[in-house]
Formats: sequence, C-alpha cells, structure tokens
Amino acid sequence: MEEKEEKTFTLEEVKKHKDGKSLWMAINDTVYDVTKFMEEHPGGEEVLLEQAGGYASDAFEDVGHSSDAREMMKKYAIGKLAESDREKKSSKTKYATPQSGDESSSWTSWLVPLLIAGVATFAYRYLFMVSGGDNGNASSSAQ
Ligand code: HEM
Repeated sequence: MEEKEEKTFTLEEVKKHKDGKSLWMAINDTVYDVTKFMEEHPGGEEVLLEQAGGYASDAFEDVGHSSDAREMMKKYAIGKLAESDREKKSSKTKYATPQSGDESSSWTSWLVPLLIAGVATFAYRYLFMVSGGDNGNASSSAQ
C-alpha cells in the first residue's frame, strides 16, 4: 500500500472531466483519471465514457472485474473523493451479512443432522425390534 499524500477531489471537479479529452470517474471513493486507459480498456471506451464524471462503483463491480483489473486501476488513481461527496453505500458488504442470519443458519446446521440421526436411530430400533421380536418368539415357542 502506498500511503502517499493523497489529493482530494469534490464530485464537482470529477464532473468536469467527462469526455474523451479528460475522463475521470469515482470508484469506491477513489478518483481515477482513465483518459489514457480508454483505448486500452478491454471493455471498450464506450462504457468508460458512459460512467465519466461521476460515480462508477456499481458499474465497475457489476462487471465483476478481475483482480488484475483492480491492480491495474491503481495506476490511474489520482486521489480520493471529498468526504462529503462519498457514496453512502461504500461499506455495503457490512450490511450484506447480518449477524442474526449467521446465528440462525448455524442453528439449523446442527438441528437438521440431529433430526436425521434421531429418525434413523428410531427407524433402526423399530426394525430391529420387529425382526428381533419375531425371532425371539419363534425360538421360544419352538422349545
Ligand atoms: C480504472 C477503471 C477500470 C479498469 C482498470 C478496468 C479494467 C478492465 C480489465 C482489465 C478488463 C478485462 C477483464 C478483467 O480483467 O476483469 C475489463 C473489462 C471490462 N470492463 Fe473494465 N475497467 C475499469 C472500469 C470499468 C468501468 C467503469 C466499466 C463500466 C461499466 C467497465 C466495464 C467493463 C466491461 C463491460 C468489461 C468487459 C467484460 C467482459 O468482456 O467480460 N470497466 N476492464
């Protein structure tokens, strides 16, 4: 991680760079100058131009960019988005896994095998008793 002194840009500034001459965008609160990358972008320049001058986090994430792409984009980072202009949902992964959901799923992961084991034991005993009882009766009545 490079902890260089970072510049801060407002969304207003980012908005000024939204054409082929100068193309900026904000992805996950970082501002990227992708002017030079436009022609190289494997996804084409059209998609970049569509996102130019604004928030592009959703569009970027929706594509499911590879870790190579994420590594590559660091080259084009020019600074951070001003605190007041940051996307509210940048920490969305935190909300995606509610704790209560985790608890209940671990509960059921115990309960289901336990129930299956109980039913299996019961069925086995029942069958054993039926066949065992028959045998016992047969042998005792034969003597
Ligand atoms: C600095 C920003 C970006 C970088 C460095 C970047 C880099 C890349 C790279 C390396 C690929 C090849 C596939 C991969 O490795 O994932 C790719 C594909 C693609 N990118 Fe980007 N990208 C950026 C921003 C965006 C944005 C904002 C969009 C907006 C929708 C976008 C849309 C796409 C699409 C549609 C593909 C093609 C996917 C495919 O054909 O499967 N990219 N990008």
